[in-house]
This record gives sequence, C-alpha cells and structure tokens, in this order.
Amino acid sequence: MSARSLFVTGTDTGIGKTLASAALLHALRARGLRATGMKPVASGCARTAAGWRNDDALSLQAASDPCPAYTDVNPYPLPEPTAPQLAARAAGVTVALDVLLAAHGRLAARCDVVVVEGAGGWLAPLADGLEHAGLARALDAEVVLVVGLRLGCLNHARLTARAVAADGARLAGWIGSTVDPDFDRRAGYLGLVAEALPVPCWGVLPHRPAPDPREAAAALRLPDERAAPARAAQ
Ligand SMILES: Nc1ncnc2c1ncn2[C@@H]1O[C@H](COP(=O)(O)OP(=O)(O)O)[C@@H](O)[C@H]1O
Ligand SMILES: [Mg+2]
Repeated sequence: MSARSLFVTGTDTGIGKTLASAALLHALRARGLRATGMKPVASGCARTAAGWRNDDALSLQAASDPCPAYTDVNPYPLPEPTAPQLAARAAGVTVALDVLLAAHGRLAARCDVVVVEGAGGWLAPLADGLEHAGLARALDAEVVLVVGLRLGCLNHARLTARAVAADGARLAGWIGSTVDPDFDRRAGYLGLVAEALPVPCWGVLPHRPAPDPREAAAALRLPDERAAPARAAQ
C-alpha cells in the first residue's frame, strides 16, 4: 500500500505554503497518521557542513514523523534564491522527474501521507520541462491551494483553480493564510473565495508575528475521510 500524497500549491510565493504544509503535517500526525513533508525543488539554500540546506525543506523535515532523510525531503537544493529554472542552470543541475519520484517513493514507503510543497505558484515551472502539474499527476496527488489573504487573492485563487483543473490535476481543498493583518474586508474576501472555489476550505491560518506550525494546525479542520489513507481498503 502506498501513501496518499497532498500537493500544496499557492496563490503566489511568500503567502504561507510552507506554514500551511507544516501545519498539515502536524494536523495529520495529531490524527494518528505518519506524515512526511517534501520540497522537491528548492531554490535559496545555505551551505552547511552536511551540504546545501533550504529553510522550507528544513521546516517540513522538522514537522515530519517519522523524520525523513534531508536528501529525500529535498533532492534538489539549489543555492540561488531565484526561479528554480534559473537556479538549476546556475548550479549546472538538471532536475529529473525520476529522481523526484524515487525520493518520494522512499518517503511514502515509511508513512501514510506525504505533503509535497511546490515552488512558487502553480504555473511557475519546477524545472526545464517539468511543471507542477506533471509532478502532481505523476504522484497521483490531491492538490491543496493555499490562498494568501490579501488584495488580488480572489483573482489568483480562481486562476489557480482553473489551471489545476485544466492541467488534469485534482483540487481537494483550500487553506486561507492571513498574511496581511491589515487586510480590510478579510471576512468578505473569505466568503467570496469560498463561493468561487469548487472545493471545501480546510481552515484559515490566523496571523501571528512568528507563526508556529503546530499552533497553526489547530486551525485546520480535516474531515475524517481526508485524514485517512485514501487506499486503506485496498
Ligand atoms: N498566517 C500567517 N501569519 C503571519 N505570517 C505568515 C503567515 N503565513 C505566512 N507568514 C509569513 O510569511 C512568510 C512567507 O510564508 P511561507 O509559509 O514561507 O510562504 P511560501 O511557502 O508560500 O513562500 C514567512 O515569513 C511566514 O512566517
Ligand atoms: Mg515555501
């Protein structure tokens, strides 16, 4: 039996995908599931004695149980903090789908749910010749859309939902992220996003000066069937 995969995408970069992904991991673990994070391609890394390390990947690794090998969480740590395609070219690296699938397979073999965080928004390519949609489909993952609650989010949320469907991937739910504490009409926007998206809201992460994913997990409401491994009956 292989693990279920959730593919976390967002309305933009810097809107709470990593926070939501780590919160999802904690929420799944609180329901008794083994949950592991993955950041397949990460640009912006620091050199450490153990090798290149990316903050998003480290956050996901820290929120995972069982604790996965860093090299499986993030097979491609690209040093430059820029678009993954540019960072890969600068590093002289070719991102290969089969390498990502092999790492994901090792994670999936040891857990019930793998939470995979994309890089940037849905239509930002993961690499030359590799789209978010291609990886999500190859993993048979359900897509979770993180909506950064700020001006423009309704447009980005609707565009992303359309693109996910057009790309043949499955949107399963969305999570609001209160990135802007001064956003007027937040409640009104939440209502509009909820009306516009064809899937349920899994929760709204509150604004915190220094958000803690374990605390943020308390804001997530995963229906029981969402927390259970999709293929448990097979
Ligand atoms: N709900 C929130 N409340 C306060 N700050 C947030 C919230 N969500 C995200 N942030 C902050 O915004 C920044 C980007 O969040 P992150 O989860 O890294 O976004 P992404 O993964 O989409 O790039 C981080 O500094 C994070 O702490
Ligand atoms: Mg991130």
